[in-house]
Amino acid sequence: MRLLIVSNRLPVVVSKDNGEFTMTKSAGGLVSGMSDFLAGLGKNKSEIKEYVWMGWPGNSVEKEDEDHLRDRVREEFNASPVFLSKKLMDKVYLGFCNRTIWPLFHYFPNYARFDLEFWEEYKRMNEIFRDEVLKELREDDIIWIHDYHLMLLPALLREKVQNPIGFFLHIPFPSYEMYRMLHKESRTAILEGLIGADLVGFHTHDYTQHFLRCVLRILGKENHMGRISMPDHTVEAETFPMGIDFNKFNTMNVSPHITTKNPKRKMVLSVDRLDYSKGIINRLKGFELFLEKNPEWIGKVYLNMIVVPSRTGVGSYKKIKSRLDELVGQINGNFGSMDWTPVIYQYTSLPHKQLIAQYRKSHVALLTPLRDGMNLVAKEYIASLRDQKGVLILSEFTGAAKELSESVIINPNNIDEIADSISEALVIPVKDQIRRNKIMQKRLKRYDVTKWANDFVNALVENTRVTRDSLSKKFLDPELYKKLVSEYRGSKNRIVIVNYDGTLVPFTKYPAMAEPPDALLGLLETLDSQVKTDIVIISGRGKDELDEWLGELPINLTAEHGSWIREAGRKEWRLLKPLSSEWKDEVIPILEMYTDRLPGSFIQERDYSVAWHYHRADIEQASQLVKEVNDHLLSITTNISAHVIHGSKVIEVSNSGINKGELAMHWLSRKEYDFILAIGAGWSDELLFQTMPEHAWSVKVGLSQTAAKYIIKEQKDAISLLRKLGE
Ligand code: UDP
Ligand code: G6P
Repeated sequence: MRLLIVSNRLPVVVSKDNGEFTMTKSAGGLVSGMSDFLAGLGKNKSEIKEYVWMGWPGNSVEKEDEDHLRDRVREEFNASPVFLSKKLMDKVYLGFCNRTIWPLFHYFPNYARFDLEFWEEYKRMNEIFRDEVLKELREDDIIWIHDYHLMLLPALLREKVQNPIGFFLHIPFPSYEMYRMLHKESRTAILEGLIGADLVGFHTHDYTQHFLRCVLRILGKENHMGRISMPDHTVEAETFPMGIDFNKFNTMNVSPHITTKNPKRKMVLSVDRLDYSKGIINRLKGFELFLEKNPEWIGKVYLNMIVVPSRTGVGSYKKIKSRLDELVGQINGNFGSMDWTPVIYQYTSLPHKQLIAQYRKSHVALLTPLRDGMNLVAKEYIASLRDQKGVLILSEFTGAAKELSESVIINPNNIDEIADSISEALVIPVKDQIRRNKIMQKRLKRYDVTKWANDFVNALVENTRVTRDSLSKKFLDPELYKKLVSEYRGSKNRIVIVNYDGTLVPFTKYPAMAEPPDALLGLLETLDSQVKTDIVIISGRGKDELDEWLGELPINLTAEHGSWIREAGRKEWRLLKPLSSEWKDEVIPILEMYTDRLPGSFIQERDYSVAWHYHRADIEQASQLVKEVNDHLLSITTNISAHVIHGSKVIEVSNSGINKGELAMHWLSRKEYDFILAIGAGWSDELLFQTMPEHAWSVKVGLSQTAAKYIIKEQKDAISLLRKLGE
């Protein structure tokens, strides 16, 4: 199986100087982690035998250079470049991605710019990626899309291909309150884009929960243990904390003379891209305060900052760079001496070998992000400490803090806390350092980057397989479709039992909006006029509504899930069997009490049923209350002649023995039918499917667990099927 990795950035940045192409390693954890995983392919156990990495080469490229570069990048990096113009990337990469999404998802709403042009171009860029992926894609490929630049891509690809589609977000998924600040179209489209995947992965449980909550609140889609049912697939949202190549960092040989710790002048190390989310300014202020509060350390400790240039085209990044230069100058000016510079700062990106040397040489690593999806540097630091000596100070606002709880965890918003953590870290006894690092190393070794990637890919394959299997087994494929139609045509006595909402008409936000269009009335009339066919509409709606909408048709109607029936050719309704409605006096006051507690919920009273609807209520508030309502009703209905059914955003109480199953039996007992077709879409149709005789065709509209024999995808497919029968 081949893994098709898709990310905004390729592992390499291509640039052209004096007619020569240079290729440099891209910055950041995504590239760093994925590259280490891919380098280990073949050495470690994995289903993945092959891969290709698609992405932007980091700069715009002249048209005439594209072919040459495509070949070179493919050959040297197993990569396939997606060429994008500077104009587009100014709006997307420097715009929507890093001026809107990045600040918002890292809880910096004040830095976020909401520009509709950025959004329009973001959509366009995702479409370009879709087209490029379609050119590269093979049938057996697994697609793994990465990060916030491509959040629309899963759904765009799903419309076109059958391959398993995975998505991993490398940055935090923010809380609902932060996420909803995006303008309406984009906040909806991004979630819809993501749930086009079969599997959506996040670094931490919190991010996963934030995502699920946004899906619930904004798209109104509930999940069951992180699984969301879609018409043609099931999406799973899961937590996969990204690991590192532990062995590489732990065992890489680096000359001892550059890794030996100097006991006389202790090094506090920090490594990060120059990003406001990394808390670099707070770190400097913390270090300054530490020197002020602890003059005994003056001359004996220094802060070594490795700062990787990043997103220099974005204003907020330029500003942070000037502030950084200024503060470093200030601290060195105020505290430094001829033979001691308190802050050394290198504005560069080092290869891993040199980085490991720095990790091993330092006494303390000081990582203070104000927000960070994971922070691989923290893990690399711990893994690199071969002698297990060293102290990690880590911000609680990093994903990594969840796994590195033996480090000194701090809140970097509090400058005092940073300062105090440095003095604490510098005196932690070596024995204690080793004890803490041992535990963390064990954890990092076990869940390394290979395990992370394999876990993700395996979950993706498994989830897709389970969904596809259950779907394909039940799907009313063209062969079965033909068989159904031919059996229908060849039969002598046939009955078509069809549910109304979701089957004959689409589900609507408000029940009163589901009036039948003329074309539907015509279709039902045509079917009914076929002498051998009985049509039965089976609905949970009241008889007055059905009379108003379908009353003129000479077909069989049933209302309130089967309490009332109106036979073809008659005008009057009659009860299916004698019913009592006394139980309503007990049930309605209870429902009224819950209606008061849940704004937006309402009671719908019919002759022999009472429904409590909550689809207009706040979905989260509702989901907390419904269990209580259900239990309450169940406890009282055990002694009365009524039963409770929990449907889709509705709880319904109706007379015992009245349901679509009982009703179907009534219709089927009237004649010897040699063709039976039952089509339904809602929860109440399940009893209908369950009571169908063996030779009947039962068809459910929409993908979900069902007792029906077959599934069709959408409501309009139900209409096409009926039309076919009517021909
Ligand atoms: N890195 C590097 N050279 C440097 C500084 C950093 O190769 O000079 C790598 C580092 O090893 C790590 C990645 O850059 O793997 C940074 O990842 P992290 O998750 O810490 O932060 P990100 O940049 O993704 O926000
Ligand atoms: C973070 C993001 C990556 C990104 C990296 C470097 O790690 O999650 O998607 O590639 O930063 O940022 P850049 O803007 O240079 O790609």
